[in-house]
Amino acid sequence: MTSSLWQAIKTLPQVSLTSLFNTDENRVRDFGLEQAGIYFDFSKTHLDKNVVESFQKLTEDIGLAAKMNALVSGEPINISEGQAAEHCAERGTGDPASVENAKSLHRRMKSLVEVIDSGALGEFTQIIHLGIGGSALGPKMLHQALKLGDEKYELAIVSNIDGAALEPVLERFEASKTLLVIASKTFTTAETLLNAQSVLDWMSEQGVADPLGQVVALTADPEQAVQWGVDETRILPFSGTVGGRYSLWSSIGFSVALALGSDVFEDLLVGAAAMDQHFLDSPYDRNIPVLAAFADQYYAQVRECETRAVFAYDERLSLVPDYLQQLEMESNGKSVTLDGQPLSLHSSPIVWGGVGTDAQHAVFQLLHQGSHLVPVEFLAVIQPGDSLSPAHHNGLLLNCFAQGAALMTGKKSDDSHRNYPGDRPSVTILLKDVEARSLGALLAFYEHRTFVNAVLLDINPFDQFGVELGKQMANKLAAEDGSRLDASTEELKKRAFGA
Ligand code: F6P
Repeated sequence: MTSSLWQAIKTLPQVSLTSLFNTDENRVRDFGLEQAGIYFDFSKTHLDKNVVESFQKLTEDIGLAAKMNALVSGEPINISEGQAAEHCAERGTGDPASVENAKSLHRRMKSLVEVIDSGALGEFTQIIHLGIGGSALGPKMLHQALKLGDEKYELAIVSNIDGAALEPVLERFEASKTLLVIASKTFTTAETLLNAQSVLDWMSEQGVADPLGQVVALTADPEQAVQWGVDETRILPFSGTVGGRYSLWSSIGFSVALALGSDVFEDLLVGAAAMDQHFLDSPYDRNIPVLAAFADQYYAQVRECETRAVFAYDERLSLVPDYLQQLEMESNGKSVTLDGQPLSLHSSPIVWGGVGTDAQHAVFQLLHQGSHLVPVEFLAVIQPGDSLSPAHHNGLLLNCFAQGAALMTGKKSDDSHRNYPGDRPSVTILLKDVEARSLGALLAFYEHRTFVNAVLLDINPFDQFGVELGKQMANKLAAEDGSRLDASTEELKKRAFGA
């Protein structure tokens, strides 16, 4: 049944965007949805009544409702690892015991923020947050979006093993005033632990008598952190059922709460909870994450688009594309179905993007005239993030809206070099302002959309075995036990390190 429903979607008539607008005067009303202070405009996509109804039939066939329920009720839907995916419990939706556990861990986190604010652990004014992937991208993106510049603490988030990332921070910071936050779900990640050791060494060199006394650990494996030397009272645990790339709602958000305030962190959870409720309660044809996933699958399977581009028309949101890359590509970059069979559909698109208007002068040529069809997502904010002349923000927004219009309508010319084919889709996500609640809702939207895509693809979005082999090979390459990799890799090693 599922394959015939997919076949029906693939053979639907392909109507151009301009025809969709010309034949439906209610298109903007029907495909523009608002939730938690965010307006989502799907009208410039090829979604129409037929496409949406066909996907709705598919969701009934594959049991989307039951899978949504399994997600929020704490069932072990991450079947390859035999566990639940309980990020929604962090914001109050889920198995009651998990919600209670999350609340109590949040209280513990808030208390530690208060203790540090009181100066009881030292006169800290600077924070180094070390983590990588999900233990860094969310906090970094949120801090970039929400910081005002007058905060009590200067926060540096370092992820890369490249010393060139950490060194400038150590040159700038004062060791005695620095709180070191080590964020790692597993507390085994090589980059994070090496960076942490280097910070401790730097503290010692700078005359700090007890560097470990200035450490806080955020982890789902407190035992590992204790073994590493962190004092139990400064370990903020979180549940192992919260995936790394879904973890900014947990203790992993500690540095955001400390740098920007616990109320900011709490507002983030409130915003996410509002999107959770919308996702669980809304009919699919008015359900923002579900409609977004329908559009994603339409472009991936029917139009065979291999990528999707995300452009933040706002410097405050400039790290959103990085965050989304991990969320979507680590979740849905899989080639097998839930029961381990080869996937016959295209998995996650390659997510890429940047900042508008910069990107207009660099990569938009391809979007307008290239041979690839690239669905585009614009992120914009009504309230400006600057106090310069309104000409700046007005120009920013007008450029954003104009790009969506130009991609859609195109412009015919007899000169093929100057012809714009048009009919190129975009979604515009327009926030009233950059604030914790709307960002919480936005990120929860992205998570649920990723989940619905996974359900439509019949894959597990909650494991990431693909990242393991490279880690094993790096260890093997470093080992002095005589084991060798392929000739090319050994030659590179020889050139870098000598025989
Ligand atoms: O290598 C991938 C990964 O496991 C991500 O899934 C995760 O977010 C990141 O590494 C960091 O892992 P940890 O929080 O355990 O240090």
